[in-house]
Amino acid sequence: MAYSTADFYAHPTAVLDAGSRVGAGSRIWHFCHLAAGAVLGENCSLGQNVFVADGVTLGRNVKVQNNVSLYEGVVCEDDVFIGPSVVFTNVRNPRAAVPRRGPAHYQPTYLERGVSIGANATIVCGVRLGRYAFVGAGSVVTKDVPAFALVYGNPARQHGWLSAHGEKLHFDQNDLARCPATGEEYRLSADKRLVTTMNEAIIYASANS
Ligand SMILES: CC(C)(COP(=O)(O)OP(=O)(O)OC[C@H]1O[C@@H](n2cnc3c(N)ncnc32)[C@H](O)[C@@H]1OP(=O)(O)O)[C@@H](O)C(=O)NCCC(=O)NCCS
Repeated sequence: MAYSTADFYAHPTAVLDAGSRVGAGSRIWHFCHLAAGAVLGENCSLGQNVFVADGVTLGRNVKVQNNVSLYEGVVCEDDVFIGPSVVFTNVRNPRAAVPRRGPAHYQPTYLERGVSIGANATIVCGVRLGRYAFVGAGSVVTKDVPAFALVYGNPARQHGWLSAHGEKLHFDQNDLARCPATGEEYRLSADKRLVTTMNEAIIYASANS
């Protein structure tokens, strides 16, 4: 990772505060602002008007669409997709007359590898989205989301499972499902609440190639 415009592209209207770090191959479009402690991994993309606060870290290959503010407390692992105008929060009980600034007051939002968030969704702070979880457009997420779960609505509720490729998973009587696009196999836990892949290493390898 290097702070060098030879390694990445930033549009001239973007403001990259001294101390921010941008991984090689990343692209930063019009009117973005990276605060001093922001860190972007390699091959990230920030659409128009994206703000990345102090202390926010994006992994590799994170795609952020237009008009998103990533406030302090947000952590993104690799391959996360954040749709246009997604809203993050970091204080659960804000009051204009009660100062609640600083990390001691901020609640985290953790986006594990491969998470996708649809346009205009709101993520209430203090939640963790498991790997490859998918949030439908316009949803309000108020609770943790399990890996590979598809959630939508306000409040967001689970409506099935999606593969790492973004395809619906239909489990058979043995609690096994195959991604129709990649053939990758998935297993549903006995309590029907968790999905694991039969070979995550392969999925992760293809997602990063
Ligand atoms: C959630 C999503 C993946 C579709 O999931 P799905 O299970 O295939 O949903 P379907 O299209 O079969 O719709 C099933 C039902 O859910 C509803 N639904 C679908 N998406 C919804 C959403 N985001 N919020 C609320 N309800 C939704 C449909 O209206 C339908 O309702 P009905 O049964 O009363 O007719 C898709 O709608 C979505 O939100 N994608 C995100 C798109 C986006 O923001 N992209 C950003 C980059 S461009």
